[in-house]
Amino acid sequence: MLLAIGCARPVAHGPYGIGTPADPRAVAAIDLAVSPNGSGLPNGSGTPQRGAALFANTCARCHGAAVKLDPDRWPFATTVFDYIRRAMPPDRTGPLPESDVYAITAFTLYANGMVGPNDIMDRLTLPRVTMPNVKEFFDNR
Ligand code: HEC
Repeated sequence: MLLAIGCARPVAHGPYGIGTPADPRAVAAIDLAVSPNGSGLPNGSGTPQRGAALFANTCARCHGAAVKLDPDRWPFATTVFDYIRRAMPPDRTGPLPESDVYAITAFTLYANGMVGPNDIMDRLTLPRVTMPNVKEFFDNR
């Protein structure tokens, strides 16, 4: 998407006569921030079961059977979603579909004993998952 912005035909614009207005669709595609309190979570949903198959296809080549989440690094389930959507797999150019990220996040939380096998993760349930070490962190939600 950034490339697409860079390649847009230059149009004289604004007080200095340079640049092009930002395309709202291009901005939306990279505006992915999810807060610890869950604001910014997209629509969509997924279960550990669907996530297991997706994980096997998309993540296992680097991570094996599952990612072990270190509770000292992950106080919120919401930011696990955010990280996976933003950064994983690292050799992919854009984020996975949102329901796939929910399912893979659900599977990862399940594999770490943080949700049950049938728990549906979505924009409402994910912020309610309590991670084991949340009290060790400054909770600014
Ligand atoms: C090409 C290899 C590769 C693939 C494929 C991959 N990852 Fe990763 N992943 C990494 C590497 C390398 C790191 C460590 C990055 C760092 O610490 O900066 C990492 C880190 C992570 C972490 C943080 C782990 C921690 O220690 O807290 C999570 C969670 C994660 N990956 C999830 C996923 C998921 C889910 C997928 C599939 C959608 C995936 N990864 C696919 C290479 C990969």
